[in-house]
Amino acid sequence: MINPEFNLKSSFICSPGGSAGGLIRVPGDKSISHRSIILSSIAEGTSHITGFLQGEDSLNTMRSFQAMGVDIKHIDDQIVVTGVGLHGLRQPDESLNMGNSGTAMRLLLGLLAGQKFNTILVGDESLSERPMNRVINPLIAMQAKINSDANGTAPLTVTGNSTLSAIDYRLPMASAQVKSCILLAGLYAKGETVVTEPAPTRDHTERMLRGFGCQVETKGAVIKLKGKQTLIASDIEVPADISSAAFFLVAGSISIGTELTLTHVGINPTRTGVIDILKLMGADITIINERDVGGEPVADLVVRSAKLKGINIPEDLVPLAIDEFPVLFIAAACAEGKTTLTGAEELRVKESDRIQVMADGLITLGIDATPTADGICIQGGVIGGGEVESHGDHRIAMAFSVASICAIDTITINDCTNVNTSFPGFVDLATSTGMKVKSL
Ligand code: S3P
Repeated sequence: MINPEFNLKSSFICSPGGSAGGLIRVPGDKSISHRSIILSSIAEGTSHITGFLQGEDSLNTMRSFQAMGVDIKHIDDQIVVTGVGLHGLRQPDESLNMGNSGTAMRLLLGLLAGQKFNTILVGDESLSERPMNRVINPLIAMQAKINSDANGTAPLTVTGNSTLSAIDYRLPMASAQVKSCILLAGLYAKGETVVTEPAPTRDHTERMLRGFGCQVETKGAVIKLKGKQTLIASDIEVPADISSAAFFLVAGSISIGTELTLTHVGINPTRTGVIDILKLMGADITIINERDVGGEPVADLVVRSAKLKGINIPEDLVPLAIDEFPVLFIAAACAEGKTTLTGAEELRVKESDRIQVMADGLITLGIDATPTADGICIQGGVIGGGEVESHGDHRIAMAFSVASICAIDTITINDCTNVNTSFPGFVDLATSTGMKVKSL
């Protein structure tokens, strides 16, 4: 029987004339939430996680470990995980569903490659089209047994009982997912696994492994981890997600006469490219109350209205802002002059082809946007109204709702259900700041 909710695709109706001000805390960091479940599940002892993102992506990771026999409970505002140790996971009864999450699929693949049992990983329509050879190839070089379909996409079948061997691997692209996949497999491998990055990417896996008592050495672009280390349970406080805060950094910048404070935001230097890019565009963002929370830097961000200008985005900032480009393109559309992005071909293999989908939507709204193979060129201008497609990509949906602040007519955004993967409660929080967004 067809579940009617299965086809339910909500739309956002965004009226012009809104603004973003006040004080808010956005939900927990998605990357850190995934890792908190993964590492605490294979640790010895009980870990308490606060600030966990209750979004579909991280919940899928949580359900997967429950299906592999880990006791994970929600007690008050904490997630309590009773770790089973490096070798305590058991074979799940069914395939593990990663939903929309590339992070869940790629990180779990590394971990599952080292187990004694077989598993099958599946995902939704978008995830089933995303490239997995980037993780399958290095894992096979570590002696893992993995099968995909002919295009190197999910479903992925992992045959257990492999004795993994360590690898010395130079990443072909700047990808924290690939790096983390190899490090997790490296925990189960004989010998020392070495990963070299072409450019710095988010280092939450390395930081959290250290928090769980593992020795991980980072020297410049080279990360080293010895296999068979025991992880010891650790409590984790997940900061607010800078990738979710990014929508409000842009919203607060393009509003008129407002000040918005975002509290408890993770400002790990491998994630703060969005602040650097917005500042280059003339944004007024102040970082206050900097502190360390369980090995991750956290701060409050204050953003005031500012006149933005177009820039050439420095390529070295691309991996440090990789998830924030949809909303940065909205900043570019509202800015005076031209913004050019290059070196960002990875955007074409995210939850959607974010270069094409954003260009299509911006053009619909009357903005001059020219996609290129590895980026886009956007001429700031007047944002009109219209109907845009998010293609089920959470960040595209939220980015276009921010555009309504500067628009002269209503923007309707289709296919917005997946906003729940990373930002449950987005519409209510956006409305509380003064944005005029409704969910249909
Ligand atoms: C993530 C890494 C990034 C990012 C994704 C989350 C992670 O992907 O786009 O949303 O948690 O490791 P890549 O590392 O593949 O660029």
